This record gives sequence, structure tokens and C-alpha cells, in this order.
Amino acid sequence: MSTHASALGEPLDSIEQLRHADNHAWFHPWEYLAGAGAANRTQVQRAEGIYVYDELGQRLIDGPGGMWCMQVGYGRQEMAEAIAAQALQLPYMNPFALTSATPVRLAAKLAELAPGDLNHVFFTTGGSTAVDTALRFVHFYNNLKGRPQKKHIISRELAYHGSTYLGATVTGKDREHNWFDIHSPFSHFLPAVNPSKRPAGMSVEAFCDARVADLENKIRELGAENVAAFIAEPVQASGGVIVPPDGYLKRCWEICRRFDVLFIADEVVTGFGRLGHWFASEAVFGIQPDLLTCAKGLTSGYLPLGALLVSERLFQEVSGDNAKGASFGHGFTYSGHPVCCAAALQSIEIIEREQLLEHVREVSPYFLERLHALREIPLVADTRGLGLVGVVECTLRQMVEAGVPEAELYAFETELGMRIDQHCHALGLMVRPLTNQCVFSPPLIIDRQQIGEMFDILHQAILRTQRDLERELGLTWR
Ligand SMILES: Cc1ncc(COP(=O)(O)O)c(C=O)c1O
Repeated sequence: MSTHASALGEPLDSIEQLRHADNHAWFHPWEYLAGAGAANRTQVQRAEGIYVYDELGQRLIDGPGGMWCMQVGYGRQEMAEAIAAQALQLPYMNPFALTSATPVRLAAKLAELAPGDLNHVFFTTGGSTAVDTALRFVHFYNNLKGRPQKKHIISRELAYHGSTYLGATVTGKDREHNWFDIHSPFSHFLPAVNPSKRPAGMSVEAFCDARVADLENKIRELGAENVAAFIAEPVQASGGVIVPPDGYLKRCWEICRRFDVLFIADEVVTGFGRLGHWFASEAVFGIQPDLLTCAKGLTSGYLPLGALLVSERLFQEVSGDNAKGASFGHGFTYSGHPVCCAAALQSIEIIEREQLLEHVREVSPYFLERLHALREIPLVADTRGLGLVGVVECTLRQMVEAGVPEAELYAFETELGMRIDQHCHALGLMVRPLTNQCVFSPPLIIDRQQIGEMFDILHQAILRTQRDLERELGLTWR
């Protein structure tokens, strides 16, 4: 028994005991190990609507919406009842051998909501396993079609596609710095498509042309006969809410079709209303992917679930006589878990009944207006967003500094998000700091007045951070 946690059988119910046990017993995702044992995380005690309450009872607007997943809001009685009813009726069913009404209904519903002919739904345990399933399917598909060399996958810098080994091989973030072995002979990365970072003097149109050409050039370089798929988040989420230039995705999709390269849309973040539609691929970007991954907002974060949607065409090409006797030897104990599927069906029902897609489309212009208004603050370098997802990026680069060494400026810059988050917390808002950026994807139920409140707080928090830096570094603004 650990000396840190409940060694003496302590019930772990005080804030201090929980903090201590959390620091020492729970190895968290993306744990910052240099600070292990001293993370002192905020303890979220309960949540209601768009708000979470910390260990001191302070109410915070949930800016990141959990982790881009809290669509219908916290504390929904109907969600709890649907989950409880399913758990009582049938908590588990072997998906390899059996079936049951709830997962079947969800599969049919997703096929109905999805664009084009994405009619076949493979349930997974989350987003990473949905991406894994997509990549394994693509390889399986080409092996079965008798072209085993067609395996290469093209992704992009700053893409995030998950934390399983295979998902990590197509993730374009932190590759050099994360100490993992994520080598894959099949993965290739195109430059990031953030138009705000285009070279000085280049138009957005020319930048878009260049990024589209990157894809075609890479396919030609590898040989189309060797390239299996292009995987893309319609809006690159944790890479910094990168909204591609107009027409970029459509043109990439057309190139994929021309070269017989499959297009995998990773809609783990953009699905289920985040951009005002069930899925963004067709409704926002005019593309019909061959494969689509989703998770997160699928259950509004109430329970873990993901899915891979496969087009009719691809499914037919590996089924019946085309299967050559094969099975798709891939799946999870919890594929189509009935309780998770019940949560998803209930969340979808709420989104439909409360017309949350329409609501997002209605409040999004105000959300974006308030987001972009932050640019008037000197510390803010850029703001980007679409639908109900956004990021504010800060920098010290625009500062006229008084002899502050470059390395020190850089160190300050990487902690800007955290500093802003601390001020936000004191003022009643939680944000998701990503080095020098803060990310937003609030629950879809957020109303106009709450959006106003959220950005008022953020504005104030950035100003406070700016004042701290002026004091600490003796800086003035250009
Ligand atoms: C676009 C995208 N794909 C995949 C994933 C992985 O999903 P999960 O964390 O549910 O495994 C994420 C998670 O943030 C994501 O943003």
C-alpha cells in the first residue's frame, strides 16, 4: 500500500487529502513529469449547465467544454436517467457475437445524420481508437484489394489524431520532443495550414494554393499507387484551432479522389454541433469523406464512446465475394457498449429537440465577434475560430523589450496561457491553456449573455496578465 494515498485507510474526503492523493496516486494524461507530485490540480466538485464548481465552491464558466465534448451541458436529468435505465436493463452485451436495440438504433441514427453514404458504423471506445480503426481499415482494405504497397498515410503538422500508437504516428504535434518511439514508415506530414502564419507578403489565396500543392506534390513524390489515405481534422483543434483557408479542404478532397487516395475526416472535435452541424465535412466544407471518425460530443462527454463511419462504396468493396473469406479482425470488448450508446442517443435527442445546431449557428457570429475583438489588446497576437470553437494566441514578440534576452522572453511566452488561465480562474472562467494560447469550445447551450460574460472575463484576464508582464519585465508596447 502506498505511503501517499490512503495508507491509513483515510477516507480521502478533505480537499487536502484528495490533493495529496491526486498528486501521488493518479498518473494523469499528458502528465508534466518534471512537476510530478506538485501539480495541485483544480478539483472539480460538481457541474451544472455551462458551469463547473471548484473545491472552494467557486463557479467557473467551462470555457473548453470539458475537452471539446460537453455539448448539451452538465447536470442533465434526462442523460442520467437514460444511462441508469440502460444500465439496469442491459449494462453489457458481447458485440462480437450478439446485438441489442440501443447500439443498433445509434448506428442507424449516425448513418442517417452523416454526410453522403457513410452508412456503416464501427463503434470504438473514444477518438484515438476510432482513428486507429480507420487506419487499420485502410490497410486491410488495400491488402484485400491486392495492392499491399498502397499503405502510406499523409497527415499534417500540428494535427492531433490521438494517443494510441497508430494515432500518434499520424499526429503532427511535439514529435521531436516527446520521447516516445512513434516511428512509422507510412506516415508523412505536410506543412501546417494556418493562414495567419503565412510568409510576409503572401496572399491567403497564394498560401492556400501552396498548401494544396503540398498534398499533390507529396502524392506524386510517394507515387499514388503507394498512398492509401489523407487524414485531416476539418479544423485542427488542439494544434491551435487552425481554420484552413477557404476552399483548402475541398481542393484536397478533389486531389484525393483524382489520385484514388482515401480521405479520412477526423471529426472528433468538429462533430455533433461544434460548427453548427452534425458533421462539418459536407455542411461546412463541401466534402464527402470516405471515412469519418467521431467521439467526444457524441455522448456530450457523459460516457466514453467513439465511432468510425465507413462509406457504402468502401464497405461493399470488402464485403461478400469481395471479402475473399476474410473477417475484419479488429474490435473492442466495449465496441457498441449499450450504456454509452444510450447516452449518445439521449444527447442526440436533446440536440435535436432543443435545436442546438440552429442555436450554435445563431450565436456563433457574436462568439467570433467577441473573440476577434481581443486583438485590440497588445499581448494578443492572433485569434481564430469557427462555430463555437476558438483560440486566442498571445505573444511577447510585438513588445519593445528592455534588454530581455530572447530565451527569457521565450520562457515567459510559453507560460502565457497558464498565466491567463490563473487570472481567468480568479474571475470565474476556466480556459484551456496550450503554451501561449487559450482554447475555447464551450457547451453548445451557452447563450449570448453568457458568451459576453466569458469574453468580458477573458479580456480582463489578458489585461491583468499584460500588466504583470509590464511590471516583471519592464516592458512597454509598440
Ligand atoms: C481531432 C482529434 N482526434 C482524435 C482525438 C483523440 O480522442 P480521444 O482522446 O477520445 O482518444 C482527439 C482528442 O482530443 C482529437 O482532438
